[in-house]
Amino acid sequence: MLDRRRFLAAAGLGSVLASCRTAPAPLAFSQGQHVDAAAVRRLIVERHDAIQGRCRYVADLGSRAVAQPILVARRGAEFEAEIVNRLPQPTTVHFHGLVTPEAQDGAGFVVIAPGDSKAVRFRIFNRAGLYWFHSHVQGLTAEQVHAGLAGLFVVTDEEDAALDAALALPPANRLALAVADVRARGEQLSPYAPTAADCVTGWLGNRALVNGALDASFDVAPGWVRMQVLNACNARGLLFSFQGEKSLPFYLLGVDGGLLASPIEVDRVFVHPAERIDVAVNVAGQRAVSAISLAFDPRAQIQAEAPLMRHPIRERYAPLAAVEICRSDAGGPVVTPLPDGARMPLFSLRVGGQAPAAAPRMPERLSALPDAAAPTDAHVRRFRLDFIERTGFVIDGAPYRIDEIAFRVARGTREVWEIKNSPISMPHPMHLHGEGFRVLRRQGTYGPARALATAGNGRLPTDLGVKDTVVVWPNETVWIAVNFSLPPTSEFAGPQRYMFHCHNLEHEDGMMMRNYAIV
Ligand code: C2O
Ligand code: CU
Ligand code: CU
Repeated sequence: MLDRRRFLAAAGLGSVLASCRTAPAPLAFSQGQHVDAAAVRRLIVERHDAIQGRCRYVADLGSRAVAQPILVARRGAEFEAEIVNRLPQPTTVHFHGLVTPEAQDGAGFVVIAPGDSKAVRFRIFNRAGLYWFHSHVQGLTAEQVHAGLAGLFVVTDEEDAALDAALALPPANRLALAVADVRARGEQLSPYAPTAADCVTGWLGNRALVNGALDASFDVAPGWVRMQVLNACNARGLLFSFQGEKSLPFYLLGVDGGLLASPIEVDRVFVHPAERIDVAVNVAGQRAVSAISLAFDPRAQIQAEAPLMRHPIRERYAPLAAVEICRSDAGGPVVTPLPDGARMPLFSLRVGGQAPAAAPRMPERLSALPDAAAPTDAHVRRFRLDFIERTGFVIDGAPYRIDEIAFRVARGTREVWEIKNSPISMPHPMHLHGEGFRVLRRQGTYGPARALATAGNGRLPTDLGVKDTVVVWPNETVWIAVNFSLPPTSEFAGPQRYMFHCHNLEHEDGMMMRNYAIV
């Protein structure tokens, strides 16, 4: 399904690189619909399949259009485009992980009505890394993201290019991948139609959908393969691993907000919804390598049933899929999802072409990222993750209100946030808008995460980089350090509203979200 030659031609990568003003070092990208973010004039949001409710982003570059583009930009570049909503529902485009002013953040305070459009413009201040963009309308986020409204946004810089050079990556061996799970029988996807139970745990599928394809497979050359992987699932945690002839160890290079200081050799890492990993695996001597989410116990214990979330917006707009049609069709697919933590094949690499001389050695340093440290003068802010009957999961016992600002932080201050999950709960991937953060410490961790906590202070290797989303397991307390500085440019002048929420999308659409403001 993912034919490399076709994508190479469609991606037109040569012209992408030629149009960069700063003459960057060549990057080893090949597969996927890579598009220079600076070349995007319009980002069209459309439904392309009304029966199953599938939607997509289309980048209009003037001379051509690219469906489900992977945007690529240098750090420091500007992104300027018009977002055009051709959905029958309101939408927004949120740039997850990128530090943007409230007006460009697309976080749902102001939506784009069906038929309307919105101009966005921002500079990319973040480090190189895999970021992403997705719909963020309270009450419709889970449905729209699941329908396909999630795109990858790769930011590059010198350190990033230096790593590709050190690994001698052939162009086919650098991949940016969005891994979602869907309910599918054969090639047919089930439309999004959550039950009350799905609203409590989150919508789970039975198969992986990688860059829009079931059973995705990528052609790579022998040597190092570098993959930046987003967990784009609504609710499923992944325990990411590689399997060749036998289990293949790999290197963790980076996480949400870019490269770690040094690579860490691992054989499995957790990636929860909205988290990203940057990994390298040496496929020399292998013919095929599978990426697999290993089985694990998510330690979920949910005792109560919440009623089906009745969000006012859902009563005003019909679902994207012809759900009623499918329900009346007795022959339609009825698919049983796999529980969270079930083993799931994700995608495969087909290794072909000439074997090079031995793959180069993994560099010892990847970036100048300092160790995470707690600022001594920091104010500690405490959050509790709880379940309340009739509402579902909430932060600090308070259901989300779009017009409320739960707390304010002064620009330029540093804070330590203590996020405590209750013992009778499930893993919650907590996401912060506005600024990234560092993970300082975990406590009370048990089960499969505890076994991977080798990085000091109860942390896992995936805790060592810059994060914007961190999973908090049942019974666990996680401490993070946040620096609310924001860039000193005029776009950030005045109070900026952002949010802190669970990125299990059914929890986010439910009430597990709070607004805050940097003032
Ligand atoms: Cu990726 Cu507020 O979201
Ligand atoms: Cu976000
Ligand atoms: Cu949650």
